[in-house]
This record gives sequence, C-alpha cells and structure tokens, in this order.
Amino acid sequence: MLLAQLTDTHVIGPSNDEVLFVDNNGRLAEAVASLNSERPAPDVVVATGDLTNWGRPDEYRELAELLGELSLPLLVLPGNHDHRQRLRATFPQTPWADAEHASWAVTIDDVRIIGLDSTVPGQAGAEFDQVREQWLTTELDRSEGPMVLALHHPPFVTGIGWMDNAGFVGLDRLGAVLHQSALDGRPVTRIICGHLHRPVSSAIAGVPAQVGLSTVQHVALDLDPTAGVTLINDPVGYLLHRFTGDAWVTHTRYIATGEAPYVPTWASNPQAKKPDG
Ligand SMILES: [Fe+2]
Ligand SMILES: [Fe+2]
Repeated sequence: MLLAQLTDTHVIGPSNDEVLFVDNNGRLAEAVASLNSERPAPDVVVATGDLTNWGRPDEYRELAELLGELSLPLLVLPGNHDHRQRLRATFPQTPWADAEHASWAVTIDDVRIIGLDSTVPGQAGAEFDQVREQWLTTELDRSEGPMVLALHHPPFVTGIGWMDNAGFVGLDRLGAVLHQSALDGRPVTRIICGHLHRPVSSAIAGVPAQVGLSTVQHVALDLDPTAGVTLINDPVGYLLHRFTGDAWVTHTRYIATGEAPYVPTWASNPQAKKPDG
C-alpha cells in the first residue's frame, strides 16, 4: 500500500491580484506530474487541506482543473483556508460523511483511511468536538485491520509559536479516542496531517503523526515562542507513506528542485569499488 500525501497547495484563482511568494498553481501542476510518474504508482493520493488559498469559487474551479490531471485515485480534506461546501461540491465522488463536518472513511488495499475534518469555519485553529468524537468513535469501532487517520491540523504542539497559537480545541478528547481504540484492539497506526508548511513529526496517544511538506512557501523553523511570521522558500514536494503490513515508512519526494539525478560511474561498472554508505 502506497499512500501519497499532498498538502497545503493554496491554489489561487485568475482574479487573484496578490503578490505571491511562489507560483502556487504551477507548483501543484509540477506535483501532479511527478505523482503521475511515480513507479510503483501510489494506490491513492490524500490531500490534507488548505487546497485553496481563500476558499473562493474561482479557486475551486482552478483546483479541479489542476487535480483533474491526476491519474490516481484522490481523496481530499478541508483546511482552514478552504470552504467546506465548495470543497464537497468540487469533489462529489468523495464519500463525505452525512454531517456538517467534511470527513470521510474508505478502505483501500485492506487499509482503512479515515479523513477527519479538523476545521472550524472562519477560524485558523482546529476543533475536535462531540459531534466529531461520536463520528470518529463509530468509524473506529466498525473498522477492521490497519487504520490511518488524516486531518489538516497537526494534533500536537509543534513549538512554532505563531502557528500553535491558533490552538486545537478538543485535542485531549482526540487523544482519549485514539487511546481507547487501541485498548479495544483497533489501533490507528499512523496519522498524517498538514497546515504547518514544513515537515515535522511527533505522536499523540502513542500514534506517530507526520506533517507533510507544503507545495508552496514554508514556515521558517524558529522555536523562539515570541517569533513572528516568517515564510521561506524551502524545497517543496509531497510524502509517500509506504505500508508493508508491519510498519509505515514515510519518504519525501521533492519537486521543482531543478536538479537532475546523478548516476555515479561505479553504478554502471561492476569492477568499480562501491562506497558502502
Ligand atoms: Fe496552509
Ligand atoms: Fe492550514
């Protein structure tokens, strides 16, 4: 099972007149082309939110066009920059929950992928309320086999103050649900998320959680709690989460680096001494 994770693509519409740090739509087009050429082909692409920059209708039209080039199955989640109803309408094939929150759950290759909407309309922060607690508990109870949870907001404090400040209401509640599910013999074994615009890993209730890298600007690594907003032009790309049945292994695919692969001479010369590391 190979799960590719796109996140924080922040697509803009033709009417956008902002000066952008990078070419948001161009970067997504490059990511889509790279995903299409992956071998082996990923079984699914999960896009963990902030797919548009402002949630505007013309941005969703642009997003649909860009992701329409993807030749792989796609599942999408909202981020705080998205608009739930417009996202749902743009991707009607997604098995959306019959609820206000835009969550879903699917099984691919015997792996249960649960997409949890962590957003609060009009706010930057996250929330795991009683409605979503009930929905997630039901999904976990009915699932069999390995489970991965996808959501937009990292379910942990990252240490990057200005991003953490938006908060995650109900984080303890989410930890308790994951803990109980593990006790019941139905553990979530991997959490994938976005929002932070830089790759970070931690855990919640003993479940490893990985933030994917954005395809646009990245958040500067500054652990001074009083540091202000600083965005940087780090290499962008997506993650490839490989599940073998025993463990999840996460790889980073960088795109648009401008670098060509280098094949060392020893690789094509059986007589040459190979380096061992
Ligand atoms: Fe974002
Ligand atoms: Fe976000």
